Amino acid sequence: MRYTLKQIHCRPWKLSGLSLKLIESHYENNYGGAMRRLNAITEQLESLDFAKAPGHVVNGLKREELVALNSTLLHELYFASLGGEGVPTDAMREALARDFGSYERWKAEFAAMGYALGGGSGWVVLAYIPRDARLVNQYASEHSQALSGGVPILALDMYEHAYHIDFGANAKAYVDTFFRNIDWQALTERYEQAVQVAPPRPVAQPEYGDLPKMGVEEVKAQLAGGGHLQVIDVRPRHFVSRQLDIAEGVTWRDPERIREWIGELSKGEPVVVYCAYGYHVGCNTAMKLREAGFDARYMDSGHSGWRAIGGPVQLAKT
Ligand SMILES: [Fe+2]
Repeated sequence: MRYTLKQIHCRPWKLSGLSLKLIESHYENNYGGAMRRLNAITEQLESLDFAKAPGHVVNGLKREELVALNSTLLHELYFASLGGEGVPTDAMREALARDFGSYERWKAEFAAMGYALGGGSGWVVLAYIPRDARLVNQYASEHSQALSGGVPILALDMYEHAYHIDFGANAKAYVDTFFRNIDWQALTERYEQAVQVAPPRPVAQPEYGDLPKMGVEEVKAQLAGGGHLQVIDVRPRHFVSRQLDIAEGVTWRDPERIREWIGELSKGEPVVVYCAYGYHVGCNTAMKLREAGFDARYMDSGHSGWRAIGGPVQLAKT
C-alpha cells in the first residue's frame, strides 16, 4: 500500500521571516523527497521474498523505511507547527509549567536544543507520553529516534535544508524565527488530542477486586522517611532460599504459616505485604490480613520491583 502526500498545513504566505522559496523547497524537495523514497522502499519491500532475502537487504530496507517514514511524519508536524503568531495559549502555558517548571523554562530548553543542533542536524520535538501523562522535549536524530508511545505535538526541523536558504549558517536566528511562527492554537488542539490517548494497561488482577495496593516507590519513600509501616516479605520459602536477599529492614514471614505470625502485627499501623513479583501470594496474604481486621495492602511489583528501583537489600535470614 502506498503512502499519500499531505497538503502543507501552514499557509506559507503568512509566515514571518521564512521565505516562500525556503518553505516551497523544503516541502517539495525534502518532505516530498522523503515521501517518494518511502514509496520506493515500500514497493521493494512488497516484492521481497523474505524467506530468501539476505539479512543485509532486509536490514537496509527496514532501516531506510523507518528513516523515510518518520521523516514524512515529522515534516508534516513541522509544517503544522508553523503559521501562528507565536503567542502561547493559557492551556499550553499551564501544561508546560506543570512538566517543566514554567513556560519560560520549557522554551529555554527547547531553544537551547535547537541552537545546539546548529551546524549538525536532527529534530527537536515536544512529545506527550501517555504512560506518564507528561510532556518532554526530545531529539530525533536520523528522523528516527522517536519516543515509543510518545505523541509528538511540536517539531522543529534542524536539518540545514530547513533554514540555509534564508539564514545561511545562522541557526540561532532560524530557531528564534521558528518561535515567532508557532501556531499555538493548533498545538493546543494537538495536545488536547494527545491527552486522550490511554496509557498502557496496567496489570489486571480482577480476582482480587479492589484490594488496596501500594507502589514500590511509595513504600521505599515511606520507609526512608520513617513512616509507620509494617512491611512483610511473604515470598514463598523456596524463593527466599534461592535468592538469599531481602529488602533492608524488612521481615520475611512464611505465607504458608500466617497463623503463626499474624499475632506479631499491630492493627494500629498499616501493613504492606509483598511476594516476588506482585501476584497471588502477596495478594492472598493481604486479603487474609484484611479479613482478620488489619489495614493491609500488597506492594505491586514485589521483591523484583524493589530491586528494580534500587531499593537496599541485605542477606535474608529464613
Ligand atoms: Fe526538513
